[in-house]
Amino acid sequence: MQSSPFLRAARGERPGHTPVWFMRQAGRSLPEYHRVRAGVAMLDACMDADLITEITLQPVRRYGVDAAIFFSDIVLPLKSIGVDLEIKPGVGPVVASPVRTLADVEAIPELTPEHLPFITEAVGNLTVELAGMGEHGTPLIGFAGAPFTVASYLVEGGPSKEYAKTKALMFGAPEVWDALMRKIAGISATFLEVQVAAGASAVQLFDSWAGAVNPDDYVRYVQPYSRIVLERAGALGVPRIHFGVNSASLLRQMGEAGADVVGVDWRTPLDWAIDRIGSERGVQGNLDPALVFAPTEVMLERAGEIIDTAAAAVAEGRIRGHVFNLGHGVIPSTDPAQLQRLTDFVHTRS
Ligand code: CP3
Repeated sequence: MQSSPFLRAARGERPGHTPVWFMRQAGRSLPEYHRVRAGVAMLDACMDADLITEITLQPVRRYGVDAAIFFSDIVLPLKSIGVDLEIKPGVGPVVASPVRTLADVEAIPELTPEHLPFITEAVGNLTVELAGMGEHGTPLIGFAGAPFTVASYLVEGGPSKEYAKTKALMFGAPEVWDALMRKIAGISATFLEVQVAAGASAVQLFDSWAGAVNPDDYVRYVQPYSRIVLERAGALGVPRIHFGVNSASLLRQMGEAGADVVGVDWRTPLDWAIDRIGSERGVQGNLDPALVFAPTEVMLERAGEIIDTAAAAVAEGRIRGHVFNLGHGVIPSTDPAQLQRLTDFVHTRS
């Protein structure tokens, strides 16, 4: 497993081909996903070890991608400690009592491994199954939400465009913000530790909405807490990927938070991103997820440009390695046949 292309690339070694996996590959666009999810609420599915195992394996079986992403959600740890929330289809996580005061923060319990027996069971099952898939076995990527992105749901009470309440707390009540971000950092770090202890071989920290802050505010109000999570994950010896959307101005700082690989969104030119991330780390990305709706030859031409750009940068020592991915999650209406062609193309191109 340690010689699998994904883990080699993530560690900055030279794999035999560019590894590829897709954010949100575990579901939504797959008919077999919709079959097993029928009538099961999202967070109930995330607490059922058999469903987690099946859904995580579906895209690996179908596409032969180089890594599995654990099926769960960034708000699942909050659900497990009793925060009243649900994931509304087509909307996202909705929190019944938003967090606004120090008392609200203190009322959130710490997460312990005892809250997550179904995670330990599912990762254990997956590790066994995945060992037999692919030439070297297929690594499992564990994940967690970064403190800023999780805080935005807790403070806003749901998805947001402006993050006005989140930023009001961040700028206006620094001691409440610090307590909240520390609390979430501890929860996310424990969530990663449980996944790695049970057999996950790498982790990705999703700070999807970090692009809502500028670099100075990122360094002051966001990075210290993501660093806590990434340092605890680093102590486990697994590669750490750090990803955000609209993160062009934050790439260096997201790397310096403690990542081995920085995920780049599709809006950012890859070569430009590589020079910001620098030679100490790897890069992941970054095909526009909407290119799957273009003619296949257009999609593959763009994928080829990404592979060649990154390969040249690796050869020149400007970046340590490249993991191919989309520049954000798979769009639910994606034709799985296009992702199959894309996977095969990445494997044979490089
Ligand atoms: O490949 C995978 O899907 C892996 C598992 C995974 C899910 N969510 C499953 C999920 C991962 C890694 C996440 C992370 C996540 N969750 C993020 C960060 C990633 C990103 O896309 O930036 C965020 C912001 C969330 C919060 C969340 N959960 C949102 C915004 C939504 C979408 C709501 C909707 O229906 O539009 C969810 C729900 C969710 N999480 C689904 C899945 C498969 C869809 C639920 C369903 O199929 O009914």
